[in-house]
Amino acid sequence: AFNRNYNNRYNLYKYISDNYLKDNSEIVYLEFGVAGGTSFKWWLNENKNDSSRFYGFDTFEGLPENWGMFFRKGDMQHQESQVQDNRVKFVKGLFQDTLVPFIQENRGDLKSAVRKIVHMDADLYSSTIFVLTQLYPYLQPGDIILFDEFNVPLHEFKAFNEFTKAFYIELKPLGAVNNYLQVAFVVK
Ligand SMILES: C[S@@+](CC[C@H](N)C(=O)[O-])C[C@H]1O[C@@H](n2cnc3c(N)ncnc32)[C@H](O)[C@@H]1O
Repeated sequence: AFNRNYNNRYNLYKYISDNYLKDNSEIVYLEFGVAGGTSFKWWLNENKNDSSRFYGFDTFEGLPENWGMFFRKGDMQHQESQVQDNRVKFVKGLFQDTLVPFIQENRGDLKSAVRKIVHMDADLYSSTIFVLTQLYPYLQPGDIILFDEFNVPLHEFKAFNEFTKAFYIELKPLGAVNNYLQVAFVVK
């Protein structure tokens, strides 16, 4: 059912990193949907800046609801990754439970001028729209939003569409691979 070449998404990440995050600049990386940590570890390995922070959000108990025709609630369950890097923090639980308290605790970090990379890889409409609307007050021009399943009409694409329309926020595309499955945007 899915025809995707995962190597292409790393080409997109590399393109973003080389062109927009030059010289290992400090970043705040927020990934929603970490699962086994494949993409999370890619970014961790790519950005060596000591001051960067990497936050990974997941239930680590799999999808909270069915997704499309092929994935069931509880699919994609993974152990919370073990990473030896003190720049990393995993936030375990439903985004709907963890993100508001996280924002309250880390408001300074989120409001700072450091560029944020928001990586949406939760697949679901509900998860994606919830995160985007909660992070909205902290998004600044230059922040980058990556989508991993952008071209799924009733999920990430629907969330993107509603979010940009309802919040009057303009996201400019920077690049796409796998027929717009993975897309990178910058906040204008
Ligand atoms: C496609 S996987 C992530 C893949 C990962 N980024 C990678 O590169 O291997 C999607 C993950 O999103 C998580 N997820 C989806 N909705 C969530 C929610 N509302 N709260 C917490 N985790 C959620 C699921 O648990 C699942 O592990």
